[in-house]
Amino acid sequence: MAGRIPQAFIDDLLARVNVLDIVEARVKLKRTGKNYSGLCPFHKEKSPSFTVNNEKQFYYCFGCGAGGNSLSFLMEHDRLSFPEAVEELAKLAGVEMPKTDGPVDHQREQRIKDIYALLEEASAFYQHQLRDHPHKAIAVDYLKNRGLTGQFAARFGIGYAPPGWDNLLKKLAKDEATKVRLEQAGMLINKEDSDRYYDRFRERIMFPIRDMRGRVIAFGGRVLGDEKPKYLNSPETDTFHKSRELYGLYEARKFNQSLERLIIVEGYMDVVGLAQYGIGYAVATLGTATTEQHLERLLKMVPEVIFCFDGDEAGRKAAKRALHTTLPVITDGKQARFLFLPEGEDPDSLVRQEGCEQFEQRLNESLPLSDFFFKTLEDGADMLSLDGRARFSNQALPLIDQMQPGILKQMMQEKIADLTGLSLEQLVSVNNLQETTASAAAPAPDYSYEAASYEDAGYFEPSSDYHDAGQNQYDPHGFEQKPFSQGKKSSKEFGKGSHKKFRPAPPGGSAVHFNPSSTAVSILLHLPTLANQCRDLEVLANSDDSAEVLLYQLAMYLQENPGVTPGILAIDWQEHEHLKPLIRQLNEIAHQTPIIDFDNAKQVLSDCLNRLQERHLDREILQLKSQPHLSSEDKRRLNQLIMQQAGSRLRKTPEK
Ligand code: UTP
Ligand code: MN
Repeated sequence: MAGRIPQAFIDDLLARVNVLDIVEARVKLKRTGKNYSGLCPFHKEKSPSFTVNNEKQFYYCFGCGAGGNSLSFLMEHDRLSFPEAVEELAKLAGVEMPKTDGPVDHQREQRIKDIYALLEEASAFYQHQLRDHPHKAIAVDYLKNRGLTGQFAARFGIGYAPPGWDNLLKKLAKDEATKVRLEQAGMLINKEDSDRYYDRFRERIMFPIRDMRGRVIAFGGRVLGDEKPKYLNSPETDTFHKSRELYGLYEARKFNQSLERLIIVEGYMDVVGLAQYGIGYAVATLGTATTEQHLERLLKMVPEVIFCFDGDEAGRKAAKRALHTTLPVITDGKQARFLFLPEGEDPDSLVRQEGCEQFEQRLNESLPLSDFFFKTLEDGADMLSLDGRARFSNQALPLIDQMQPGILKQMMQEKIADLTGLSLEQLVSVNNLQETTASAAAPAPDYSYEAASYEDAGYFEPSSDYHDAGQNQYDPHGFEQKPFSQGKKSSKEFGKGSHKKFRPAPPGGSAVHFNPSSTAVSILLHLPTLANQCRDLEVLANSDDSAEVLLYQLAMYLQENPGVTPGILAIDWQEHEHLKPLIRQLNEIAHQTPIIDFDNAKQVLSDCLNRLQERHLDREILQLKSQPHLSSEDKRRLNQLIMQQAGSRLRKTPEK
């Protein structure tokens, strides 16, 4: 890409500087053998788990997993962008930055610089208006009515965008180029098909959104009355990416020397209100759901994050979604908790009523992630019935599977074992079975949580302005997908995605040579509705070949329980002495499926069944023939079998 810093330059730079020098200038280190160790600068800790390996030129924290080289250290620690970190390194190494040829990039750099500067000016302007505008009383009274003191208004840089279409425009846009920049900054709107511009934010209380380094990157503006939309946010710009930024994070860090936890709330005023009442460690997402990026960022800074939700249906939905986002991100030593407020209250209103102490009491009593997880899943699951427990573990296991390995994960798996009465080993086999068949037959399971969006929650009123105010950034993947199968109801789900191939046998693994019974089992696992095609299998019931017995049992079971998921089946079979021993084999077959075209499955199954029938005919005939004496009953049977055999050979002779 044009204008990029050449990789060779970066490599050279990394070779010239010493990671130890970089880190040592910022973190107190002690030599321990080959390495250096100290208290991790990326999370709070009492005993040092942060080490620098100078030989290999990297650092790593066993506590929080932060790790990397000189460049990433500067980016993380000093909050520098990539080019800034490279520049810093270049300075340290005493080398010139290469001239990046691309005029494109210079332009971009300049543009971003301009935007930061203009946003800073805009923020100063709005703050100034709160003190000096002839109509400032309306804004000041509004803030006073909401109980905000001057001190906290100043801490958050709150300002006032006066009524009118061109206040900011007149103040800041000295020339055409600046107008364009202000538009790029999200502050002006270009009137369609013209070169005319007007202020995006009018007659609103202005909340500057700052990045980690305190630079203003965007604004949120609240109306003074009940007009809609209540809040207007800057659009996505070069400096503002909603899915990454959190309102109040800069302030929380700046005004709290020892941050131990952070609360995630929904609104600007929640952050400000809580801060004013002594809880200066709340941050708000900006009209989007909490993203993994948000969480990763927060959990690097503090060991504990508490989500705060309204006590209503929308709040519960949002909480489930947050739970899903958290599971893959949370690591041992970190804690996520969930707080539900009484219906109709938000943190701002509640802290004003009850004060800091009581609110903190609520925080302390909030639900730890695992409690919330199990509470949510158990709600509505009938834990007394086998089916209910099966469905419960079917939902829980894939979620827990997403978690990073560690104590928390293990604890949660154990809890499922507790709740379902199944051993961990059994659960793993249930889950494996589920996974194998699901991956071939259907999209990833949905865990039955609905795809709630903020729009659902009734937050946003559509308005002409609104789409400027920011779309929901949240990517609802995994929520939109249809369930693999919800218990016994949806037998059709199994066969969906029908043009996929079966999963190939694992490379180098024991590819199952064509064995009609295990092939048939495998087909039934993926397309259980085909069980109806399996007739006259009784001959297999007492076979010496366990795969044949398995096929018989599986076909019978699926005929009686159409639509059952493999997970439920596995749990069900655990409870039957004669079926339990078959689960292992079922599992193996599920994992060693040969490649078969999905569309041919029906034909292949019928071929397998025919082969098995024939084999049994042959066997029985052989057995009868080998008997020294045949009763007349036996003779009749033998004749019958021989006729059958002939008939089936005839049927098989290809037509010419
Ligand atoms: P709420 O509607 O809960 O408002 O929106 P609030 O925070 O309680 O606001 P106050 O107390 O009436 O001032 C929560 C958050 O959702 C986003 C904003 O970030 C807001 O703080 N939001 C809400 C918007 O972006 N646009 C809207 O129109 C409404
Ligand atoms: Mn509110």
